[in-house]
Amino acid sequence: QTAREMIQEIKCRRDISIEQLEYLLTTENKDCLEMLREEAVQTAQKIYGNQVFIRGLIEFTNYCKNDCYYCGIRRSNHCADRYRLTKEEILSCTDTGYKLGFRTFVLQGGEDPYFTDERICELVSEIRQKHPDCAITLSIGEKSKESYQRYFDAGADRYLLRHETANGTHYRRLHPDELSLEHRKQCLWDLKEIGYQVGCGFMVGSPGQTTETLYEDLQFIRKLMPHMVGIGPFIPQKDTPFAREPAGTMEQTLRLLSIIRLIHPHVLLPATTALGTIHPKGRELGIQSGANVVMPNLSPVDVRDKYKLYDNKICTGDEAAECRFCMENRMKSIGYQVVVSRGDYI
Ligand code: SAM
Ligand code: FES
Repeated sequence: QTAREMIQEIKCRRDISIEQLEYLLTTENKDCLEMLREEAVQTAQKIYGNQVFIRGLIEFTNYCKNDCYYCGIRRSNHCADRYRLTKEEILSCTDTGYKLGFRTFVLQGGEDPYFTDERICELVSEIRQKHPDCAITLSIGEKSKESYQRYFDAGADRYLLRHETANGTHYRRLHPDELSLEHRKQCLWDLKEIGYQVGCGFMVGSPGQTTETLYEDLQFIRKLMPHMVGIGPFIPQKDTPFAREPAGTMEQTLRLLSIIRLIHPHVLLPATTALGTIHPKGRELGIQSGANVVMPNLSPVDVRDKYKLYDNKICTGDEAAECRFCMENRMKSIGYQVVVSRGDYI
């Protein structure tokens, strides 16, 4: 099979074999890699044109009751400088965002017990009332189906919950025993059943990741058929158990973005901040590999640096407006237009 035939086959079958995955993740054949990238970009453009959706990210708390080994805001990290935004502060972020043209807000945080279901519902319904034309995305971890239903009824319409890895052994390498892959996957199915647009995803190059585990990730994506898939390189954070583990690479992340675009053509696929952190043009290259979403930061500047999942995070000093226009210019520079709309899954 030639490289061209292989890529066409992946595209037509919307599936990849483990041998094909192994080849695409390791080949140094420049023509093949260029073909992979071009096919992914064409696939995205056929559906979404040369448009990139922007989402305003609000990191509203860095308290977390979990202890994921990779994560800088894990509960055991006593160096983390903890904060949580008040409801008024969060609403002020969405107001600023709205004026800047954002029509999707992503509320992300650690699993912070202060934010009870009541508080989350109150927050969501106030945003919903103020901005009926906006999509509200939550990314606040694993909850019961009843809780997810309550947030949905309050007006949330999307939920991001990376599955992190679809392989049980790998999951245990990344998390303490109190967390389980079964529960995480169940949450995603529950969210889907309730009617959310859901996003799963994983870090590229997390400790213990192999071609086999990645293959399982891709098969899980094919089964779940999520509306969004968030992938970005693993980047070590100095106060975590994985401080000395090597980071994932940009190269692998870009190849995986293209592969995901080919096996799940309609997916909303962000070029993540982590990708922008490991390379100055990471987000542009992500779009040029098949991604179609960017998520500039709307969090108040004084907390940006505290939401430190990993070291050297970018954009911690820029005001929301700067991030918004910086992103627009970055996308323009590669021939893409940032669109101010909810940017729903087509
Ligand atoms: N608590 C929510 C959850 O668990 O889904 C949302 C916040 S959590 C910090 C968001 C994502 O950050 C995780 O799903 C993980 O993939 C990513 N992340 C955490 N630590 C990271 C690291 N060191 N490098 C790259 N990404 C990381
Ligand atoms: Fe909870 Fe990372 S350990 S958000």
